[in-house]
Amino acid sequence: MKLSAPRRTAAAAVIALAGLLGAAAPSAGAASSAAPAAPSNSAWTSTAQALAAPDIPLANVKAHLTQLQSIATANGGNRAHGRPGYKASIDYVKAKLDAAGFTTTVQQFTSGGAIGYNLTADWPGGDPNQVLMAGAHLDSVTTGAGINDNGSGSAGVLETALAVSRAQLQTTKHLRFAWWGAEELGLIGSRYYVNNLPAAERAKISGYLNFDMIGSPNPGYFVYDDNAALEAVFKSYFSGLGVPTEIETEGDGRSDHASFKNVGIAVGGLFTGAGRTKTAAQAQKWGGTSGQAFDRCYHSSCDTTANINDTALDRNSDAIAHAIWTLGTGATNPPGDVYENAADVAIPDNGPAVTSTVTVSGRTGNAPAALPVAVDVKHTWRGDVVADLVAPDGTAYRLKNSSSNDSADNVIDTFTVDASSEPANGDWKLRVQDVASQDTGYIDSWKLTF
Ligand code: TRP
Ligand code: ZN
Ligand code: CA
Repeated sequence: MKLSAPRRTAAAAVIALAGLLGAAAPSAGAASSAAPAAPSNSAWTSTAQALAAPDIPLANVKAHLTQLQSIATANGGNRAHGRPGYKASIDYVKAKLDAAGFTTTVQQFTSGGAIGYNLTADWPGGDPNQVLMAGAHLDSVTTGAGINDNGSGSAGVLETALAVSRAQLQTTKHLRFAWWGAEELGLIGSRYYVNNLPAAERAKISGYLNFDMIGSPNPGYFVYDDNAALEAVFKSYFSGLGVPTEIETEGDGRSDHASFKNVGIAVGGLFTGAGRTKTAAQAQKWGGTSGQAFDRCYHSSCDTTANINDTALDRNSDAIAHAIWTLGTGATNPPGDVYENAADVAIPDNGPAVTSTVTVSGRTGNAPAALPVAVDVKHTWRGDVVADLVAPDGTAYRLKNSSSNDSADNVIDTFTVDASSEPANGDWKLRVQDVASQDTGYIDSWKLTF
C-alpha cells in the first residue's frame, strides 16, 4: 500500500503542534470517537518531518516464506530451537542482511541443552542514543514449519530492513532489526538479549516493535496498546487504508515484546490472531469466517505457505515499513512536543478531587521554567473549580483557586508553571476538585507542551 505523502502518526492521544504540520495532514481529531484516549507518551510525538515509507513488495515477503518453507522441508519439517532448520533459517536471513550492508551480530545462548541464536542487524547512522528496534521470532514449534508463526513476522521485518537498504535511508534514530530464537519455549532468546544488554545500552533503546503472526489465514487486525504513541503510528496507518483495528488481547505478554516491556522499554506491534475464534462482528468488519480460528493451523503441521492470507501479510508488512520510516526518520524530541490526555473525566459535585494523567518519557533533563499547561474543563460555574498540576514526584502547582463570585462557564486556559526543578519524564497529573454544591462538569482534555 503506497503512501503518497508523509503521514501523521498521531491519533487523538498524541497531537503534534499545528505549526509543524503540513496543511494536508489528516485531522487528528477524526480518530477520537472510539476508545477514550490513553495517556500519550514519549519522544515519539513529533513525526511531522518523517519521510514516506515505500510499498513493501508482497512478492518479496512471500519469497522469504517460500525459502523458510524449503528450509523446514529439508530439515525434518520444522525450524525449531535446537534443530538444524533453525540455524539454517538464521543463515538465510543473515546472508540477505549482510549483502544489503547491515552490520549483523549472531548471539548464542543455551536452552534445554541446545544452542540457540539471536540475530541482530544494525543500519549505520542515526542517533546512537535513540535506538528504534523491530523484531520477530524466527523459531517454529517442532510440529510444523511455522510459516505464519512466525515466518510471517520474520519475513515482514526482513523485507522492511532490505527496503531500508534499497532506500539507503538516512535516519534520525538508529535502526536495529532482530530475529529471536526459542520464543516458542518461553521468550528465551529475547529475554537473553535484554538481560545481557549492559544497562547503558538498554537505556538507549527508545522503543521495540514486535511482529509475531501477521499473515493469519482468517485474519484480524490487532494493534498492541502497550504504548499510546507507538499504537497510534499503527492505528493511523490502518485508518488510512480504511481497515478497522482492535487492541491485541489474545494473551498479553505472549511474545518477545514482553521481554522489553518488562524492563521498561516502550513497545508496540501487530498481530493477526492465533487460536482464538473470529466473532461474527469481527467477520463483519474484516471479512473471513466467523466461528473459526484466526489461524486454524496455529502450532500445527499445516502451518505452511498455504497458511497465509496475502492481504493481511501485505498490509502488515507495509505497516512495519510505515512505522520504521515514521519513527526512524522523524525529528527527535524537538521543542514543541505535546503530551495530551483527551479522555473525559467527570468532576463530582462538591466532591473529591479527580485526576487525568499524561506520561512523558524519552526526554532528558528537567521540565521547562515556563511550562505551558493547557486546560480544557467544561463546567457550569467555574468558581467552584480548584485545579493543580501535579508533577511526577507529587509536587502540586496551583493553577487556579475557587472563587465564590466567578459564575462564568468553563476553565479553558493555558497556565504557565515554573517546573524547572522537576525531571521531565514521568506521570504528570491535572488534578481538579469541585468545592461547592450545585454546578458541576468534567475534564475535557489537557496538555503539556515541552
Ligand atoms: N508466538 C505466540 C505464541 O505461540 C503467538 C501469540 C499468541 C501471540 N498470542 C499472541 C503473539 C499475542 C503476539 C500477541 O504464543
Ligand atoms: Zn507460536
Ligand atoms: Ca459544584
